[in-house]
Amino acid sequence: MQNFVFHNPTKIVFGRSTIPSIGMEAAVFGNRALLVYGQNSIKKNGVFEQVTASLAKAGIMFVEHSGVCSNPLLSHVRAGIAKVREHDLQVIVAVGGGSVIDAAKAIAAGSLADGDVWDFFSGKQVIKAALPITTVLTLAATGSEMNASMVVTNDETQEKFGFKSPFLFPKVSILDPETTFTVPPNYTAYGAADAIAHVLEAYMSTKDEDVPVQMDFMEGLIRNAMQSCERCLVNPSDFGGRAALMWTATLALNGLTVAGLGQTAFPMHMIEHSLSALYNVPHGAGLSVVMSGWLRWRLKQDANRIARLGRHVFGLTGDSADADLAEQTVNALRNWFSTVGCPVTLAELNIPTGDINKIAENALALAQLWQLDEYTQERIEEVLAYCQ
Ligand code: NZQ
Ligand code: ZN
Repeated sequence: MQNFVFHNPTKIVFGRSTIPSIGMEAAVFGNRALLVYGQNSIKKNGVFEQVTASLAKAGIMFVEHSGVCSNPLLSHVRAGIAKVREHDLQVIVAVGGGSVIDAAKAIAAGSLADGDVWDFFSGKQVIKAALPITTVLTLAATGSEMNASMVVTNDETQEKFGFKSPFLFPKVSILDPETTFTVPPNYTAYGAADAIAHVLEAYMSTKDEDVPVQMDFMEGLIRNAMQSCERCLVNPSDFGGRAALMWTATLALNGLTVAGLGQTAFPMHMIEHSLSALYNVPHGAGLSVVMSGWLRWRLKQDANRIARLGRHVFGLTGDSADADLAEQTVNALRNWFSTVGCPVTLAELNIPTGDINKIAENALALAQLWQLDEYTQERIEEVLAYCQ
């Protein structure tokens, strides 16, 4: 177990009928808000009415910034920053999934920056301040509701980069599982795949072999992501299933899993971001493909760790050698993805394998930014070859 500091300042308000508290929570930070949301889902499922009624009741004037798309775009973030400046807004209210919350974070930081907001992502400047961010989460997936990260795609350069800063922790996030009853089966499964990927990145990359609490915790999260996803697919209005999936996804990337693990890395995300940037595939769908390939690629080097995953998550038993168990584990995970409707090959995403070179070239920029030095162009191509 390595030394660690765990500090997560986000207040979580979890449960049924919690959305009407958003006005009161946001009013602590100001009475002029930017209301950020996506395409149309919150208007269809009644969340928009609940949020706007609550803001009005709390005396908050708001300017709408709708139309955040999945894999949010820099140009749309810049438009949000212009609205904040024009109306001298004080607080951001983000209502949606990870894309909406990430866009809100970029707007919050960009509004107070001297230079352009993309400078944060390209590493040219660090965040020194951000407007307070409050959120109403409508999709269980990214953990953005309780972490300090944001991911945005530069629509001019087709680069999908992330950035992290303590200023980006939402002040408060409202998690009402009932809002996710309307999430369609595909995004329900992609969300579970994303949560699994967040845990697996840490699980696979820690060098510390003596972190029993963390390993059990991570295995429990993966099991719960899978079980709750299955429940939600059988019955989209299963409150217990939706609640378990939502809380699992939040815990999967709020800093708890990595406490004590020492250095961890995000190579699968590094590669997936290029799939999203170049082909606009849903993040979780890109990840189920990359995870399936990456784990096969690591079968030899990480046989023990993967076999442990098989025993503790998939209930694999027997006297088989770790190498065999590891292979069975990867097959079990791939089968599970297929069962819940997540793709496991590039072809299922309609990505031609002839593009592997181009994808690796795009991913290399992020590998360098994240200092994943072992991931050369050649190595990324090697991983992608396993994703076929
Ligand atoms: O735009 P609307 O109409 O809201 O529709 C969305 C969107 O089409 C829909 N949706 C959301 N809530 C719904 C709903 N549909 C019905 N009922 C509801 N209650 O779902 C679709 C996907 O939404 P999106 O926000 O794009 O999904 P997700 O939460 O998976 O976010 C993905 C983005 O987050 C980034 C990803 O890269 C991607 O850009 N990530 C952010 C991270 C972070 N900040 O920590 C970490 C992750 O690894 C990830 O990179
Ligand atoms: Zn992710």
